[in-house]
Amino acid sequence: MDETKLNMMKDNRWSLHGMTALVTGATRGIGHAIVEELAEFGAAVHICSRNQDDIDKCLQEWKGKGLTVTGSVCDLQCSEQRKRLMEMVGSIFVGKLNILVNNAATTISKKIIDYTGEDISTIMGTNFESVYHLTQLAHPLLKESGNGSIVFISSIASLKAIPVLSVYAASKGAMNQFTKSLAMEWAKDNIRANAVAPGPVMTKLLESIMNSSGGDESVDGVVSQTFVGRMGDPKEISALVAFLCLPAASYITGQVICADGGFSA
Ligand SMILES: NC(=O)c1ccc[n+]([C@@H]2O[C@H](COP(=O)([O-])OP(=O)(O)OC[C@H]3O[C@@H](n4cnc5c(N)ncnc54)[C@H](OP(=O)(O)O)[C@@H]3O)[C@@H](O)[C@H]2O)c1
Repeated sequence: MDETKLNMMKDNRWSLHGMTALVTGATRGIGHAIVEELAEFGAAVHICSRNQDDIDKCLQEWKGKGLTVTGSVCDLQCSEQRKRLMEMVGSIFVGKLNILVNNAATTISKKIIDYTGEDISTIMGTNFESVYHLTQLAHPLLKESGNGSIVFISSIASLKAIPVLSVYAASKGAMNQFTKSLAMEWAKDNIRANAVAPGPVMTKLLESIMNSSGGDESVDGVVSQTFVGRMGDPKEISALVAFLCLPAASYITGQVICADGGFSA
C-alpha cells in the first residue's frame, strides 16, 4: 500500500472530522474538557447546562480557539427540556448525531441513614432517569448517523464503596449496567456504548463532596489509594472519552473503563 493511502486510512481512524456530538453539562469541569477534546479532533459539538451566561462565556472562548461549538440551556431534570434539547440538536445537526456524551451529574453527600426521599429522587433523577430518557430521545439521530457512539461518564464510586456517596454510587452503578444493555440492543444500529469511570478530579462537584460532612476524609482516602498518588486532571478523562468516540475504537462496546490512577486495580 502506498504511503498516501496509509496516511489517509490512519487519519480517518484517528479523526472526528464531519462528526457531530452532544455533551451534557459542559460549561465546566470534565464536560468542558471533553468538548475541547472532541472539537479538536474535528467534531461539531453542541453543549447544554442550566446557565445561559456560562454557556455564552464558553462558546466565546471556544470560538476564539477556532472550535465549532453551539449550546443551549437545558435542565436535564425536566423531561420537556430534554425533548426540546434533542429537537434543537436534530435541527442543528440536520437529523444526525454521531456522539452522545452523558456527562452532567449531581450529588448530595451524606451517611446512608440521613438521605431523604427527595435527595434520592434528585440524584437518581439527574444521574440516571434523565440520562436514560435523553439516550432514548437520541436514538433516531444516532441511528441515522450510521456510526453512533455513546459515552456515559460514570465513576469509580460505582465499582468500590466510598464513604458518603451511596446514592451517587447506585446511580452510576445503574448507568454501568445500562451501558451494557444498550451496547447489546443497539449494536444492530451501529451504535456503540461505553462508560468511563473517572477517579477524583478537582471540579465543583468534587469540591461539594469535600465540603460535606465526612467528604474530605472520603476523598483523601481515595487519593491515598491511587497508585499515582494524586488526583486526575479533566484532560486525563477527556482523552479516554475522545478515544472511545474515534473510528479507531470501533470494536470497543459495552465496557466500563476506569481512568483513576490505579485506584480500582
Ligand atoms: N470530579 C470528579 O472527581 C468526578 C469523579 C468521578 C466521576 N465524575 C463524573 O464526571 C461528570 C462531570 O462532573 P464534574 O466533576 O466535571 O462536575 P461539575 O464541575 O460540577 O460540572 C457539572 C456540569 O454539569 C452541569 N449540570 C449539572 N446539573 C445539570 C442539570 N440538571 N442539567 C443540565 N446541566 C447540569 C453543570 O452546569 P450547571 O450547574 O450550570 O447546570 C456543569 O456544566 C459527572 O458525571 C460526575 O459524576 C466526576
